[in-house]
Amino acid sequence: MKHLLATDGLDPAVATAVLDTADELKHTLLGREVKKLPTLRGRTVITLFYENSTRTRVSFEIAGKWMSADVINVSASSSSVNKGESLRDTALTLAAAGADCVIVRHPASGAAQRLSEWLAEPGTSVVNAGDGTHEHPTQALLDAATLRERLGSLKDRRIAIVGDVLHSRVARSNIHLLSALGAEVVLVAPPTLLPYGVESLPVTVSHDLDAELPAVDAVMMLRVQAERMAGGGPGQSFFPSAREYSIAYGLSERRLKLLPDHAVVLHPGPMLRGMEIASAVADSPASAITEQVRNGVHVRMAVLYHLLASEGAAA
Ligand code: CP
Repeated sequence: MKHLLATDGLDPAVATAVLDTADELKHTLLGREVKKLPTLRGRTVITLFYENSTRTRVSFEIAGKWMSADVINVSASSSSVNKGESLRDTALTLAAAGADCVIVRHPASGAAQRLSEWLAEPGTSVVNAGDGTHEHPTQALLDAATLRERLGSLKDRRIAIVGDVLHSRVARSNIHLLSALGAEVVLVAPPTLLPYGVESLPVTVSHDLDAELPAVDAVMMLRVQAERMAGGGPGQSFFPSAREYSIAYGLSERRLKLLPDHAVVLHPGPMLRGMEIASAVADSPASAITEQVRNGVHVRMAVLYHLLASEGAAA
C-alpha cells in the first residue's frame, strides 16, 4: 500500500490485513507500561490539518510515536498557509524537508488524491484524514475494527448509519468498507440529508428509525455538520431544525430499548449529546464510543506500518 486515500475501491484483502495488524498490535501492547515499538525508527510522519480535529490528529501522533517515528504536526492556522502558501507548495515543502508520509485533512473533497499526485515524484505516502464530504478512510477502518471486536465477523451483519449522511465523509467511507467486508448497510436519514445518487451506493434507505432498530446489529450515529449547512435564511432552511432532527433521528433511551441485546452503538465523534444521541445512551454498555477512540490508535499504527515499514514483523 503506497497511500490510503479512500475505502471506495480498497481491496477487502488489504483492509482485512490492516485490521488484523491493528488487532495484533493491540494485543502486543496490552498491559505494557512502555508502549514503544522500534518499527518506524528513522521515519518521519507529518500531520497537515486544514480543519479542526481532536481524535484523528492526536491518535495519528500517538500511533507514530508508539512506533518510534518522528511525528511533526502542522496546522494551517500556524503555518505559512496563513500567508497564502498553496496546498501544493506546502506539501512539496514538507516532502523536501524529509516527510515519508503526509497525513492530510482538508475541507476540499479530492484534496488527498491531488496531494498524492503532487508527491508521486518525491515518493511520499499520503493518508486521507478527511477531505470535505468525500472520505475518512481511517475512521471507517477503526469502526470496522470495533465492530469486529464486538460482533466477530461483519459478514451479513446489518448496520444502520443514521443522520446527516449528506455531509458525512465518515458515512461514505463506512458504506464502502462495511459492504466490502460483507455487511448490509441501511441509511436512515431525512430525505434532505441523503446524497444525490444514493441509489448507486451499496445500501438500502429508510426514513423510519424506530422501524429499523429492532433488526440491526449495530447503529452508527453521525454528527450533524452544521458548518456545512450554509445557505437559507430563517424559515428557508433546506434542513430539519435541531428539534425536528432529534425527535425523528436522535438515539434516545426509548430507542435504545428497541435494539437487540447484542447491538452496538457507535458515534465517530465529536458528538452532540442530547441531539444526535442521549447522554445515557452514549454512556451505556451498548456504546462502543470510547473503544472506537482506543482502536483508532491501533488502526492508525497498522496503517502507518503497511505504508512505511519494510518487510518484516509488525511488532
Ligand atoms: N472522528 C473524527 O474525525 O474526529 P476528529 O474530528 O476529532 O478528528
